[in-house]
Amino acid sequence: MDTEANGEGGSLVLIKQGAEARVFESTFAGRKSVVKERFSKKYRHPTLDSKLTLKRLNAEARCMTKARRLGVSTPVLYAVDPVSHTLTFEYVEGPSIKDIFLEFGLQGVVEERMDDIALQIGDTIGKLHDGGVIHGDLTTSNMLWRSGSNQLVLIDFGLSFVSTLPEDKAVDLYVLERALLSMHSSCGNVMDKILAAYRKSSKQWSSTLNKLGQVRLRGRKRTMVG
Ligand SMILES: Nc1ncnc2c1ncn2[C@@H]1O[C@H](COP(=O)(O)OP(=O)(O)OP(=O)(O)O)[C@@H](O)[C@H]1O
Ligand SMILES: [Mg+2]
Repeated sequence: MDTEANGEGGSLVLIKQGAEARVFESTFAGRKSVVKERFSKKYRHPTLDSKLTLKRLNAEARCMTKARRLGVSTPVLYAVDPVSHTLTFEYVEGPSIKDIFLEFGLQGVVEERMDDIALQIGDTIGKLHDGGVIHGDLTTSNMLWRSGSNQLVLIDFGLSFVSTLPEDKAVDLYVLERALLSMHSSCGNVMDKILAAYRKSSKQWSSTLNKLGQVRLRGRKRTMVG
């Protein structure tokens, strides 16, 4: 994508190059912003590929907007451009939860902050799930901590979808549990704190946590076989 593509002639600074998207820092109407560009996978048929890319772009924009309506804190969506396959968001100032937890691993956990973060994570996922939105990629790099207001901001709805099935919600939580275990084992029982907050936040917590038990067993069997 060239710098003209964002329509303002503003400069684009690459933040992250992924397998399916590139993320840039830019400005939109004078505000610091993030531009996320989905690009084609070369091995797919061009027409099919363009359709799939657009489908994902729209799904991401829709799920994020829906999450916001449910009271989940997300970046403001400034623009959707189906021609350049880009979404433009508000730039959230602050570290990712991943960076905060890695820091806790090195310097020791700040219990009060940890409790606040875990509470907000559980509360956020509960609201999302009760509204029928599955995030699809709940990792600590997809959660930002807005400095100033100390508020959790959920990002990256690129794999999100709409579902009310306990199974889908349980898998969503399980992905986070695995991510916490592998990345942040020195942070203690964060998942327990998150689930305690989830129970308070989600009216359907009981069926979801039942399923989570089954999903864990399935996961354990798979690692034993593999
Ligand atoms: N609104 C934002 N404000 C500040 N930083 C952001 C924002 N959105 C994304 N970032 C930064 O860019 C990184 C990548 O963004 P994102 O997670 O949306 O893309 P991705 O992981 O490449 O996407 P996908 O998983 O859909 O391929 C984030 O981890 C975060 O560090
Ligand atoms: Mg991401």
